[in-house]
Amino acid sequence: MRHSLPIALPMIVLGVESSCDETGLALYDTERGLLAHALYSQVAMHEQYGGVVPELASRDHIRRAIPLLQQVLAESGIARQDIDAIAYTQGPGLAGALLVGASVACGLGLALDKPMLGVHHLEGHLLSPLLASDPPSFPFVALLVSGGHTQLMRVDGVGQYSLLGETLDDAAGEAFDKSAKLLGLGYPGGPAISRLAEFGDPSVYQLPRPMLHSKNLDFSFSGLKTAVLTLVKKHTTNICEQDKANIARAFVDALVEVLLAKCLAALKQTGLKRLVIAGGVGANQQLRSALNAAAEKRRFRVYYPELEFCTDNGAMIAFAGAMRLQINPQAAQRSYAFNVRPRWPLNEVELIS
Ligand code: KG4
Ligand code: ZN
Repeated sequence: MRHSLPIALPMIVLGVESSCDETGLALYDTERGLLAHALYSQVAMHEQYGGVVPELASRDHIRRAIPLLQQVLAESGIARQDIDAIAYTQGPGLAGALLVGASVACGLGLALDKPMLGVHHLEGHLLSPLLASDPPSFPFVALLVSGGHTQLMRVDGVGQYSLLGETLDDAAGEAFDKSAKLLGLGYPGGPAISRLAEFGDPSVYQLPRPMLHSKNLDFSFSGLKTAVLTLVKKHTTNICEQDKANIARAFVDALVEVLLAKCLAALKQTGLKRLVIAGGVGANQQLRSALNAAAEKRRFRVYYPELEFCTDNGAMIAFAGAMRLQINPQAAQRSYAFNVRPRWPLNEVELIS
């Protein structure tokens, strides 16, 4: 039976994230804010394979979910019955990994008789800067830069998103990860290549800036990865550490210049003065420095999520769920037949007008 319920406001929402290689659980209270959040990263397990192994990811989510739930309940002092609704990442992401989070969340909802809400992972990222102590107000331009996505959006409110531009091929995080792999760096490649780039000489190599001068706000990063491959191949003998650092530097400089230029173009096109950076690549220090310098010069403000909420986490899912439920309490239902959406375009998420 499927019926909607009235939910008393304020409310406490449990968030469950399991779309890729991080298991995240969190409790968000619409009055008191984030009560507790707990995260387990599988990075060390996947590292030896050079990337995420979906089957291993799913199995590990099973192992972690309940202990993390117990952790957030203990930390917050909240009893299970005090949870008003459960929000879980419904997509996009790895099908098996999503199914684990969805089944844990829905099983818990069924046992506790709580309403459920499937949340879009990218909506979680988009709204994550609002968890910071000095959050941006609407409207703003958001650059969503993760392992799977690179999008520029105009955000007018919760559930009010319009796409301004996106990558035509690889995502920025994917370019980081693939280039890092070509350089023999570990997984995930973003932080590794970024650290190495600090030691690189920017004058040695110049890589292309894909679509820098295109008249739109789209991106393309697969050529950049190919350019890294070409440079690596030129070194027929063993590539030395300094050369690796020089290539890493050329890669980061090119990618950051393109991301910055497109952000500036998006601010100009929309006439907005607030820019929000969300997703794992938002943790990148070179990108942050470039954006901060531009913001000072051009008088706009740039907002980042707290570093711990840049990459995948349960807090952003609990928060996105809570924000949706504040607007429409009927969005959560006592319906426990879940269906995950591994490929779920953000423009298909239910918009709030
Ligand atoms: O948002 P996220 O945790 O997961 C997805 O939804 O994809 O983003 C993960 C991506 C990976 O590609 C990782 O290499 C990248 O974010 N990343 C970074 C940094 N930290 C994480 N890229 C560049 N610099 C970083 N410091
Ligand atoms: Zn993510």
